[in-house]
Amino acid sequence: MSRPFLLHVSIAVIVALATLLFVQLRNASGAAQPFDSVSAGHRLAAAWCSECHSIEAIAAEATLEPPAFVAIANRTSTTALSLKVFLGTSHRNMPNLIIAPNEADDLVNYILSLKRN
Ligand code: HEC
Repeated sequence: MSRPFLLHVSIAVIVALATLLFVQLRNASGAAQPFDSVSAGHRLAAAWCSECHSIEAIAAEATLEPPAFVAIANRTSTTALSLKVFLGTSHRNMPNLIIAPNEADDLVNYILSLKRN
């Protein structure tokens, strides 16, 4: 076997390994996304929702109206879809916040992260 041939093979192997590594890194960051989304949702909730809602995992006070996020999260009827639909329509008593779809996802992921089971 000639040296140039071996050189080509090793370059091909290096490129293949680099591609694999790249794909794995992308997957790793994809897997990390829900956590980032939950913390982004927490920041959004603190800025936009905490004025009315109790937003933490342990509700400061048990108010029924507006319901604490932890109470909303733990209702059996609450799903990602039901929350998204609610956030897409307007709150009765809430000044109409314009929530971008990715921000709604973050808020929904945050609220659902308060589910206890
Ligand atoms: C100005 C006060 C106010 C703010 C700010 C506010 N809410 Fe509300 N929210 C309410 C009230 C009052 C209710 C209950 C009545 C209703 O459904 O409109 C409610 C209900 C909800 C519900 C539905 C609960 C159910 O019974 O199904 C969700 C989900 C919710 N809010 C999420 C949010 C999120 C997320 C934010 C921040 C982006 C937010 N709210 C900001 C006052 C507020």
